[in-house]
Amino acid sequence: MIKKKTNKKSLAEISRMVATSYDIIGHDYHSTRRIHKIDAELQKFSDLLPLNARVLDAGSGSGVPTSKYLSEQGHQMIGIDISDGMLEMAQKNVPDGRFVKMNMTDLKFDDDSFDGVVSLFAIFHIPRTQHHLILSEFHRVLKKGGILVINQGAFDMDGISRFFGEPMMWSNYKPEKTLTMVKEYGFEIIFEGNLVRGGETQYWIFARKKYDKKKKSN
Ligand SMILES: C[S@@+](CC[C@H](N)C(=O)[O-])C[C@H]1O[C@@H](n2cnc3c(N)ncnc32)[C@H](O)[C@@H]1O
Repeated sequence: MIKKKTNKKSLAEISRMVATSYDIIGHDYHSTRRIHKIDAELQKFSDLLPLNARVLDAGSGSGVPTSKYLSEQGHQMIGIDISDGMLEMAQKNVPDGRFVKMNMTDLKFDDDSFDGVVSLFAIFHIPRTQHHLILSEFHRVLKKGGILVINQGAFDMDGISRFFGEPMMWSNYKPEKTLTMVKEYGFEIIFEGNLVRGGETQYWIFARKKYDKKKKSN
């Protein structure tokens, strides 16, 4: 259950809290994952990408399952995360990928430089007031026609609770609002809806970048 409100912590403090918690709990989290529970979604994403696509995995965690699966499909994986511990695991688990410390609210990548962006079980660790910014960054780095896949909680939430014994942020708007934001950024929706995987329900969106938000005519 989410108990504490977050309005007393700054965004930087929340980010440090999440990174520190994942440094501590990373191995336990990784070892309890049901790693094949989203194989169908990862395969669907892969099928929408060109061969040998350049793909950003935002909040890549241990690299398993997402970056590992997609790397085995022949895609060039670039993972970013704010936890040193998770990045270290990811580089070992996915030797062909490249894993870099970076916050998904501030991507240090060129415009139109990825064929795909995937961010699973991660956006909800960032205060939802930042989700517009994250979507705008994902849109900016995707090529026109590039594919976005994200998921989040299936209901409105905003607070801190314990996760594997450590403090963790959980924050997202209700699915309808997230869907509206994704559409506003010039994405065409391929699929959206709640999916139950491994006994958990998440809200998923698969979308394609239609145009540059600032230049709708291109
Ligand atoms: C629940 S894990 C999921 C990892 C992976 N996507 C997966 O599905 O296995 C969430 C990950 O997001 C990372 N994360 C949280 N906030 C982040 C941020 N602002 N920028 C980049 N990564 C972040 C955490 O450090 C953690 O490794």
